[in-house]
Amino acid sequence: MMQTKIKKIFKKKGKDPIVCLTAYSSNIAKILDKYCDIILVGDSVSMVLYGMKTTKEITIDTLILHARAVKKTCKKSLVVFDMPYNTYKNKTQAYKNVKKVINLTKCDAVKLEGGKRIANIVKYLVKKNIPVMGHIGLLPQTSRSFKVKGKNYIQQKEIYEDAVALSKSGAFSIVIECVIESLAKKITTNISAPTIGIGASKFCDGQILVTDDIIGMTNFMPRFVKQYSKIRSIIEKSVKNYCNDVKNKRFPAPKHAYRF
Ligand code: KIV
Repeated sequence: MMQTKIKKIFKKKGKDPIVCLTAYSSNIAKILDKYCDIILVGDSVSMVLYGMKTTKEITIDTLILHARAVKKTCKKSLVVFDMPYNTYKNKTQAYKNVKKVINLTKCDAVKLEGGKRIANIVKYLVKKNIPVMGHIGLLPQTSRSFKVKGKNYIQQKEIYEDAVALSKSGAFSIVIECVIESLAKKITTNISAPTIGIGASKFCDGQILVTDDIIGMTNFMPRFVKQYSKIRSIIEKSVKNYCNDVKNKRFPAPKHAYRF
């Protein structure tokens, strides 16, 4: 049986843009929950919070801790757990790990990277009542090059077939990462699953970005990111002022002290 939240996402296809962002902590999730349809606990946490070089390095147990914090804070949004690299190599392994994730985090759905290659795993999980979000185009866990996809016919055909296979397997939505506009448009109009673009044009049914990128916490500024604030300079200013206050004995002031 399809969850109400999932049904709502499905109904938005072609009508109402689906708003998605990433969260790894309770504080951020609390803000996002007011505005987002979907919150992804992404494996990008590896690079964004842990300073790792790739998304491959994050473990399922570390991501579970982040997902628990996010999920318990969210009242409204659909929370998706991004299955880490090598945790869904086959149906049995995928189901075992997904069950652990759902039990420990209570997340509403999981995301898996890959198209035709993992369609049988997606189908299997969906049959077991696990809502699955797909992820095609540029696949950070396995892609050899991090360039825009779909510039030649072979890639276009591959990515299109990936989208069709995932949609037919029952994925409730599909992230399309870094593909040319015309391909994203073709996929979105021809499959029944809602598409969520990241660097895949306005022709997708929804959009996702990494929250730390849009608030200017990271230095990651590819063409597809729009930065809405420069949070690092606000943090730096606060830290600098605190340091000055401590050095000049302006902090703590009497109002910050406890007395009998
Ligand atoms: O891990 C992540 O943050 C992602 C999104 C950016 C799609 O996979």
